[in-house]
Amino acid sequence: MKIITKKSIIAFMLLNSVFASDALISLGERLFNDGRFSRYFWQHSNGNVNLELNNGEKHLEKLLLANGLEVDSPFKGTTQSCASCHMVDQAFGSINDPGMRTYTDFSTRIKIPKRSDNKTHAARNTPSLVGIGSAYNRNRFSHWDGEFHDHFQTVLGNMTGRNMGWLSHEKEIARNNIIKVIREDDGSVQSGDEFGGSYKEVLLSKNVEAEFRLDPSERVDISKADDQQVINAVINAVSAYMNDLDFEKDEIGQYIGSPFDKFLIKNGFSTIPKKDESNEKFTERLKNFLSGLNQPQFIEKKHFPTHHKDFSFGKVELEGAKVFFNIENSTRNQGSCFKCHQAPLYTDNSFHNIGTSQMEYDMIHGEGSFKKLSIPTLDSRKNKFYNNAPEENNSQSFDLGVWNFYKRNKKVTDFIDTKVCTKNMKCDLSQMVARFKTPSLRDLSHSAPYFHNGLFDDLEDSISVYMFMSRKAKMGEMRNADPILKEMRLNMMGVRALTSFLKSLNENYE
Ligand code: HEC
Ligand code: HEC
Repeated sequence: MKIITKKSIIAFMLLNSVFASDALISLGERLFNDGRFSRYFWQHSNGNVNLELNNGEKHLEKLLLANGLEVDSPFKGTTQSCASCHMVDQAFGSINDPGMRTYTDFSTRIKIPKRSDNKTHAARNTPSLVGIGSAYNRNRFSHWDGEFHDHFQTVLGNMTGRNMGWLSHEKEIARNNIIKVIREDDGSVQSGDEFGGSYKEVLLSKNVEAEFRLDPSERVDISKADDQQVINAVINAVSAYMNDLDFEKDEIGQYIGSPFDKFLIKNGFSTIPKKDESNEKFTERLKNFLSGLNQPQFIEKKHFPTHHKDFSFGKVELEGAKVFFNIENSTRNQGSCFKCHQAPLYTDNSFHNIGTSQMEYDMIHGEGSFKKLSIPTLDSRKNKFYNNAPEENNSQSFDLGVWNFYKRNKKVTDFIDTKVCTKNMKCDLSQMVARFKTPSLRDLSHSAPYFHNGLFDDLEDSISVYMFMSRKAKMGEMRNADPILKEMRLNMMGVRALTSFLKSLNENYE
């Protein structure tokens, strides 16, 4: 049986177009934290979804940080949930206090449950999820390679996927397990009592406390619902939670959480596009505003309680912004960063190759080796690549990003063919090599390490990548270089200024 029918997607879209109540969002959060959708729980619970397991999953005992330090994991003793990789506030105050509320795990590639495929680590760095619900996240492609095209696909794919312990032929078991947990949960475990009772009661919302009561349009009578409706109810709640994940905003939806936002507002510039203005146009307007700013009003230094850093926007940060937006500046650097990292989220939601796969491969297998690799043909291409690090000369063992789905996944192919390949550039598979989704640049100090492969955990080192790769692109040593790399003028002074600017995009959580 097919898991996703066209009808179910339409039903979901109708459901998803209405507003989400706070109760639905909190139900989504509970599902996100529930460890019973994992393969391990299914295997060890003997069919009793309300069983408290004595032991948690082994791989969740320790967390290996990007700096090589291994620390006790806040998820020791539990089973895999979305939150054990996308940490919410579990990391706050612990693990050397690297951050919190960023929905990431601080590992380069996090450990996954052991199965017969012998994979031990996720294929990629876990992205932060804040901002994925933003109105300025102009398309809903997800995963670094555009594997999914909307939240329904993403949530369902993840709940029944390898990260939760399920092998690709076990999707049906995973799906049936979700349905069973929802139908049979009695609210006694996984903090059900703090969230208003069993899933069935909350979804029906009859005798539950007001704060957990769903809007009538969101309610589902599980005793009457068919299996697909149960799945839809789950995905709908988790998607509502995803849609709610955004950076701090004021009542008119303007971003206000970072020093740069505060600086713009203080100088009379709104931090979000006007109605119907594209991110690109808004970015152009922001660039012009910054270059015409004669007497900038700076943001005074203030301590960032959750960063151990100062919250400020001063001369140094402004110099960095000028490098970012190619405005004349004292370092004479031009980063061209804004061309891909468009305001207000600092992403264009598109796919580019900036050389990160090449850099990782060459660091392991020798300078120039990525360029010599033979790339498989469409027919011989397999879905997923390596375990933890790319292996040498194994034609399936390097990460080629959106290449994995171009001409195979209709939505991302249509997007590339209409938005990426312009009249002057006809796309073929070789131009898809090592393109990845442009991430947001907000709040980076809370989400190290960086890039799809967690290449560096230091922001300055990460920005230096552009200095090296733009040099390589100019000398013709980079495979499938993005043309913008050749326009960059960047030295260490520029990199340092950019680092200060990007730190002024950190959010202050108080
Ligand atoms: C083992 C760790 C792990 C678990 C468990 C996990 N994720 Fe993820 N998540 C990742 C990684 C790694 C990626 C990046 C995947 C890729 O690009 O191939 C990701 C990507 C995502 C994305 C896309 C973000 C973006 O901007 O592209 C979403 C949304 C997401 N996960 C939601 C979930 C949900 C919902 C669950 C629970 C059902 C979940 N994840 C479980 C590690 C995990
Ligand atoms: C050609 C488009 C493009 C340009 C220009 C560009 N970037 Fe990026 N940026 C990307 C893509 C794509 C990624 C993700 C690459 C990956 O993960 O392999 C990225 C990732 C990053 C990251 C890592 C973020 C994270 O969460 O992992 C940082 C930091 C960054 N860029 C900063 C900059 C700066 C600073 C500039 C200007 C010097 C810049 N970028 C210019 C496309 C671009």
